[in-house]
Amino acid sequence: MDSTLLKRQAAERAVEFIQSGMVVGLGHGSTAIWATRRIADLLQSGQLRHILGIPCSKQIEAEAHSLAIPLTTLEQNPVIDITIDGADEVAPNFDVIKGGGGALLREKIVAQASKREIIIVDESKLSPKLGIKWAVPVEVIPFGIGSQQQYLESLGARVKIRAKPDGTTFYTDQGNVILDCDFGAINDPASLAVQMKQRTGIVEHGLFIQLATDVIVASATGTRQLEMTTN
Ligand code: A5P
Repeated sequence: MDSTLLKRQAAERAVEFIQSGMVVGLGHGSTAIWATRRIADLLQSGQLRHILGIPCSKQIEAEAHSLAIPLTTLEQNPVIDITIDGADEVAPNFDVIKGGGGALLREKIVAQASKREIIIVDESKLSPKLGIKWAVPVEVIPFGIGSQQQYLESLGARVKIRAKPDGTTFYTDQGNVILDCDFGAINDPASLAVQMKQRTGIVEHGLFIQLATDVIVASATGTRQLEMTTN
């Protein structure tokens, strides 16, 4: 089945949880964008009213503007009712890797401010253990990047500096660089997360530990909401 259709189905299922009057986190990426589009449609038809969006990236902010979704900020609304966002890899206990699209820092700020963080994926993103399918994106400030690379290698990663398709360095919305860190299967993501956070110069990493409250998966047989399993 067409993966775009699956992404759209997962997004539309998640949007069913949004009610009028909510503050909503608008995730970044090719799956989450369908949620933003659906919210815009429902606002236009009057089925949803008084929604305020908080975008996870400049790109989604521009998209939301063009779709006339009213926006707010975490200064005006520090608590978000529901965020709908994509992920790169999802473990059975709902730990996830995010940041394939480079927006992990804002995505994590928004996730931590959210009462409910709904992750939407197609079935290909489900994994028995994080790290099997995707490298962990790590956002670092450009100063001292070689030193961060060495530190991440000492933790067991094969590290690549993220580049754009034209080969030039990719910079995040904050002007930082991303190191994509292939750890292979990660046995203890929570400890790895702590080790990475201890390092000055590492701004944030794409391990989202126990931040997702719901996971919605689309597959050829339809969409389903996952049950969290802890072992
Ligand atoms: C953006 O930085 C990411 O966290 C995305 O949510 C993630 O990469 C999934 O993206 P797609 O929905 O485009 O696969």
